[in-house]
Amino acid sequence: MVIEDLRARLSGSLQGLARIALRSLWVPTRSEYLGISVEATMDPAHLLNAMLGPGTGEVPAELPELKAQQFSELWPIDPAAQRFLWGFVRSVRPQRFFETGVADGASTRIVLDALERNGDGRLWSVDVLPTAGDLARRSPAVHRWQFVVLPARHRAAALRRTIRPLRPLDVFLHDSDRSYSWQAFEYREAWSALAPGGWLLSDDIDASYAFLDFARGHRLRPWVLVGPRKLFGALRKPA
Ligand SMILES: C[S@@+](CC[C@H](N)C(=O)[O-])C[C@H]1O[C@@H](n2cnc3c(N)ncnc32)[C@H](O)[C@@H]1O
Repeated sequence: MVIEDLRARLSGSLQGLARIALRSLWVPTRSEYLGISVEATMDPAHLLNAMLGPGTGEVPAELPELKAQQFSELWPIDPAAQRFLWGFVRSVRPQRFFETGVADGASTRIVLDALERNGDGRLWSVDVLPTAGDLARRSPAVHRWQFVVLPARHRAAALRRTIRPLRPLDVFLHDSDRSYSWQAFEYREAWSALAPGGWLLSDDIDASYAFLDFARGHRLRPWVLVGPRKLFGALRKPA
């Protein structure tokens, strides 16, 4: 606790680049999230009800296992986050869903299949790897999907160009580069592209201070799904 306090005071007292540099070196502790969140739980149904109101959560007890095929088995979102995502898409019924970070496509497949069950909505995904998305390509809902490969050069500009014509988005899900600067960039872009009342979802919110700083900067309290390996967060843009 003493070290956390010192870290928070030190980086809080610095400005601009120096602060970002320090923020990039450290990652937030779970207790920092517990202090700021509306709700932090390991139970995806509980989280969904806390976010959308009692009785809204339709979270399946289990989903068919989506095994990593080509990429690291540590990359897919956690099973609890997968169940949350299915319930979230079924309840919110988004028309325009945008995600970053596909890999084998566990999150992509879940969103697509849930949109198909809704009978409505489209998903746009970006990754830097052209071979990403195998699980999604095998979904019967692949007709709802558009996949964009971001180039190695001018990647940020390419992401911006991809998002711009899709505004307003109902949901933006981040699960790509976990560095402070890229996460902060994506959250800013997401926020300006989201419709009022839209949702910013993010895996790996404990990989850097970006999500915590973003929430604080907007005076918002996140909802947090606590997983065994990582934290998954949600923020709602005010209507
Ligand atoms: C953790 S994996 C995504 C897992 C996926 N959401 C799932 O549930 O299976 C991260 C992915 O982000 C991609 N990636 C890395 N940097 C990126 C960037 N700047 N923009 C878009 N995708 C990026 C990687 O190629 C990798 O496929």
